[in-house]
Amino acid sequence: MGVYSELSGRSALVTGAARGIGRTIAQALLDQGCQVALVDRVPKAQLEAVCRSAPGRARPCVCDIRKPDDVERVVRDVVGAFGGLHILVNNAGITADGVVWKLTDAQWEDVIDTNLTGSFHLLRAAAPVMRAQQFGRIVNIASINALRGKFGQANYSASKAGLIGLTLSAARELAREKITVNAVAPGFVETDMTAGLPEPVLAQARAECLLGRFGRPDDIAAAVTFLCSDAAEHITGVVLRVDGGQCL
Ligand code: NAI
Repeated sequence: MGVYSELSGRSALVTGAARGIGRTIAQALLDQGCQVALVDRVPKAQLEAVCRSAPGRARPCVCDIRKPDDVERVVRDVVGAFGGLHILVNNAGITADGVVWKLTDAQWEDVIDTNLTGSFHLLRAAAPVMRAQQFGRIVNIASINALRGKFGQANYSASKAGLIGLTLSAARELAREKITVNAVAPGFVETDMTAGLPEPVLAQARAECLLGRFGRPDDIAAAVTFLCSDAAEHITGVVLRVDGGQCL
């Protein structure tokens, strides 16, 4: 991973930071010297344990991103504690798989409310802070399944395609204030989210990965860190696939 000295001291908020890709992104930003708010809906003790790696610079924030009041509270808290908010990574996401003719309203709503509406809540709360600063970096974690669809994931693919639309519109709306808004679209990454998938699904995904391996959380964190750096200051409104060629 590159070293971006300008990131030192910047204030970041990462959702879904208790484990998996979000935890790795939060750690990568801490490694660059950022102050990082780790936002997740897990019990506080679990989040505190994750924050022990960087006492003082890592802030545990229990929050359900589906709830707008919760999100407003956390953003206010983080801005107060860190004195600003420079980086927002909308990473929290869930799956609730089923073929489209069997999906329940609950499966549909849970996934849309978390992956799309939850990210909107954070973006809406962070944008005024970043506009006032005339600076910001927003990275939304989408998925290659937003671009190609996936059997059994109509709700998930729709939520992530919506997140890409949100990314593109917000990129246009916030560019004047030097705020970039980009999406990273991972392919298959080995985390708890994918751990329970049946072997035929894993075999298919493995065969699709042209570079010969599944993605790792570090691969995604490296792309996010780059998009947050000054090296990416002229990049906005992109969807960066990090998938080993899986969706080529
Ligand atoms: P994960 O399931 O390991 O971690 C997700 C985290 O989000 C958990 O800590 C969970 O508590 C948190 N979360 C869920 N709902 C929340 C809510 N309402 N409020 C606050 N926190 C909430 O997932 P993983 O694999 O680390 O994925 C991270 C992101 O990357 C997700 O958006 C996922 O859709 C996306 N992604 C993952 C891929 C993979 O193969 N693992 C592939 C493509 C995209």
